[in-house]
Amino acid sequence: MTLRSWVVVLLVFGCAPAMAADAAAGKARAAQCAACHGANGIAVAPDAPNLAGQVESYLAKALHDYKSGARKHEQMTLMAKPLSDKDIDNLAAYFSSLPAGGKQP
Ligand code: HEC
Repeated sequence: MTLRSWVVVLLVFGCAPAMAADAAAGKARAAQCAACHGANGIAVAPDAPNLAGQVESYLAKALHDYKSGARKHEQMTLMAKPLSDKDIDNLAAYFSSLPAGGKQP
């Protein structure tokens, strides 16, 4: 293989994890979040924040921080503990993709 084709291979495989966030899979996982954060990402529980339209990397960081204990909250720590890195990426992609105003497109 030429150097150029190795670069292509590395680019394709190197970027795969970043492109792998799957909002549809995140939607399926988000059913358990709806009780507090709402089915459309607009919170229904009085103390829960809206997630719709939030910056994807911020949502992912928040979930990683709850999971690791860097950020502590009784309910969210419990929710985040069983999530895999992939679940977190997918959930972040899904909630970020929802319209911030709460209306479905
Ligand atoms: C029992 C209610 C409840 C459930 C269920 C729940 N959350 Fe939360 N969530 C909260 C509350 C309350 C907060 C605010 C916590 C705090 O003050 O840190 C929060 C915070 C968050 C944040 C941080 C938002 C921000 O603006 O910093 C994210 C992200 C999040 N939840 C995602 C999820 C996901 C994804 C699920 C489903 C896997 C989920 N939550 C399920 C109640 C809930």
